[in-house]
Amino acid sequence: MKNFEFFGAPAALFCFVDRADGPPQWSDLGMFLQTFMLLAKEAGLDTCAQEAWSMKQDSVQDFLKLDDDMLFCGMA
Ligand SMILES: Cc1cc2nc3c(=O)[nH]c(=O)nc-3n(C[C@H](O)[C@H](O)[C@H](O)COP(=O)(O)O)c2cc1C
Repeated sequence: MKNFEFFGAPAALFCFVDRADGPPQWSDLGMFLQTFMLLAKEAGLDTCAQEAWSMKQDSVQDFLKLDDDMLFCGMA
């Protein structure tokens, strides 16, 4: 359940995928997230990829009013 408090992290992000995208773009997103995490590490910031957020995509999308995109991954 601490996933949904971002493990107490001071910042969080959500990564969305356009519903028109297919499996090739999912690998692009994975690479993007890893590159983001490596750059954050280089800047002295630890991260935690959180696929757990994909279980809450309806709540997150309602909150952010994003209808066209699908929540792919969260990150603390
Ligand atoms: C794509 C991806 C999704 C992940 N999703 C979760 C998640 O939902 N919840 C979680 O606790 N850890 C998740 N993890 C694992 C953590 O992000 C982290 O890699 C793991 O806790 C190891 O951390 P450490 O190397 O600092 O020990 C995920 C990892 C990856 C690569």
